[in-house]
Amino acid sequence: MSRPNLLPFFGLAFRTPTTYAARVENNQKRQGMNATSPIIEATNLDKFYGDFHALKDVDLTVYQGQKMVICGPSGSGKSTLIRCFNGLEWHNSGKLVIDGIEVHEHAKEIRALRQEVGMVFQQFNLFPHLTVLENLTIGPMKVRKISQKQAQETARQYLERVHIPEQAEKYPAQLSGGQQQRVAIARSLCMETRIMLFDEPTSALDPEMINEVLDVMVELADTGMTMVVVTHEMGFARKVADTMVFMEGGRIVEVSPPEQFFTNPSSERCRLFLDQILEH
Ligand SMILES: Nc1ncnc2c1ncn2[C@@H]1O[C@H](COP(=O)(O)OP(=O)(O)O)[C@@H](O)[C@H]1O
Ligand SMILES: [Mg+2]
Repeated sequence: MSRPNLLPFFGLAFRTPTTYAARVENNQKRQGMNATSPIIEATNLDKFYGDFHALKDVDLTVYQGQKMVICGPSGSGKSTLIRCFNGLEWHNSGKLVIDGIEVHEHAKEIRALRQEVGMVFQQFNLFPHLTVLENLTIGPMKVRKISQKQAQETARQYLERVHIPEQAEKYPAQLSGGQQQRVAIARSLCMETRIMLFDEPTSALDPEMINEVLDVMVELADTGMTMVVVTHEMGFARKVADTMVFMEGGRIVEVSPPEQFFTNPSSERCRLFLDQILEH
């Protein structure tokens, strides 16, 4: 597959590999790299739902391997922004380049984009009529055209990674919420995506299950995966984030390293928001 704007920084080694095995190998090579190459570049993004202005002049760069946590009040545009990052929503103006692909509504490369960017949702979105193993293998087999045997091998590895290898033959309804969300994370990993987006992945969970999902996300961060996480779990943010983003009213109000964000945010609105959520 030919690609415009290949990341010059990585040169040949990180051109999009064509085979699944090559993707796995490349993802492994990237692990632990402290790269400085942008993988998501949003410039002057505006997004409307009808007359409603949901994203206002958003500029944001995410670098390879970065762990970015986005927070902000409900309705501030967090979901809209990250949904633009994997082509579930379209911006109306501005420029969005993801892994060398310029994203817009009519982009031919949109299928390629979805193969690069995985998303974990608040509601796990697993297929209820498929077993865990089938949920994990259907994407790689259909989209990446790999054999069932190879897909199952990979799926079992990633189930191991999220600490539920014994659940492979069960159906989603037979699992707890925390286990289902870990299956959803494993499903994204099975696609060997380069970027993982999380949209409030623990908000629908009972409190006792939140940590088992956050722990898996911390482990994933340690592998070098590029992660953009919308969450209000500030303990997780402190542990993992290298960059904190605060949104309000469709705008990015603050982008800062966690040390500064939590102790001395530059905007009053961010300070008030943190006071509210950290109070509890
Ligand atoms: N599909 C949609 N149609 C119309 N308005 C929407 C749609 N999705 C979101 N919105 C509105 O856009 C704003 C931002 O929503 P969202 O990105 O979901 O915020 P957040 O994730 O920060 O809570 C909200 O006011 C919401 O009501
Ligand atoms: Mg949201």
